[in-house]
Amino acid sequence: MGSYPGLGEVGGKRVLVRSDLNVPLDGTTITDDGRIRASVPTIRALAEAGARVVVTAHLGRPKGAPDPAYSLAPVAGRLAELLEAPVAFATDTVGESAQQVVADLGDGQVAVLENVRFNAGETSKDEAERGAFADELAALADAFVSDGFGVVHRKQASVYDVAQRLPHTMGALVRAEIDVLTRLTETPERPYVVVLGGSKVSDKLGVIDNLLGKADKLLIGGGMVFTFLKAQGHEVGRSLLEEDQIGTCVEYLRRAEASGVEILLPSDIVVDSEFPTGDTRPEPIVVPASNIPASSLGLDIGPDSAAAFAAALADARTVFWNGPMGVFEVPEFAGGTRTVAEALTKVDGLSVVGGGDSAAAVRTLGFDETAFGHISTGGGASLEYLEGKELPGVKVLED
Ligand code: 3PG
Repeated sequence: MGSYPGLGEVGGKRVLVRSDLNVPLDGTTITDDGRIRASVPTIRALAEAGARVVVTAHLGRPKGAPDPAYSLAPVAGRLAELLEAPVAFATDTVGESAQQVVADLGDGQVAVLENVRFNAGETSKDEAERGAFADELAALADAFVSDGFGVVHRKQASVYDVAQRLPHTMGALVRAEIDVLTRLTETPERPYVVVLGGSKVSDKLGVIDNLLGKADKLLIGGGMVFTFLKAQGHEVGRSLLEEDQIGTCVEYLRRAEASGVEILLPSDIVVDSEFPTGDTRPEPIVVPASNIPASSLGLDIGPDSAAAFAAALADARTVFWNGPMGVFEVPEFAGGTRTVAEALTKVDGLSVVGGGDSAAAVRTLGFDETAFGHISTGGGASLEYLEGKELPGVKVLED
């Protein structure tokens, strides 16, 4: 029997762990198990201390009712492989199956409950409805460990309300993630370079706003770059464009210049006439960013831009990267993302890959994860942290 930091003696106790096991699936095949692997140390430590470990987590965004396409069953199977131990699986979230599975757990054993978002109370905006569901979750356990960093920005029952109902602590993963992100926000060694990509500039407004006062350089690629190119007066053909954000991008470019922050945009773009689907054969061509043909759409930053981004990263002492540079899932449009990832592996200092698609990209492209300083499990959560927003799932633990 043993203890867990922040909870004391846990031997024989039922400990509810909120993990983020939201992994990409192709049918029932897990295509990237990074988040499951990242959840293992906390679950293992609790099991080794003799706790009866009850894992609750979400997968995707089901609509508050059971949906087999979003079942956590394959994830429970993978967790068992990684733990090299049996993992019991409850076919509901807090009902009969969950209660029975928890009652049957022995000391040091692990169970996974079905997708917590199969219950509408989990994500309800109505505090009473969320609270009632949190009561049911809390009834399954004697203590709570919050370890799902990817969801700490969500005020949801299994993240927030349950912590108000049980003795609780932060898990090892959430603690490690926050330690690294605090280094970025409080004491970044300079030069501090941020690379942003992904499809939507509207997802990154808060972080750009905040970083304009903190980072030395901002490198921008991915689908979001076309709104910036348009803001510079270029035509972007049929590329992704958020018309309503053009003015904001103009303002960011102006503010960056005024505050001495260098914003680096690509000088060339890999375009094609169609978005790649399984049925089309990519026919990529490279064009100047200032001359994207009206019939084309941009799908990656070009080789000159990738080289310029790598050069801008070469002397960085701190790097944060969120969002791929192009459609990295298709080899013809993966060059920019690959070059940026490669440059991050060479950073002499702290390099942080900020979750979600960029974390999946480095693994899909075959990079050794240990070559990066830190690969975050939280995309939205790490961005909100860098925006300076309060994360409800962290705040509730401190309260
Ligand atoms: C994520 O994938 O970023 C986390 O698991 C959170 O998922 P959500 O955006 O559906 O809340």
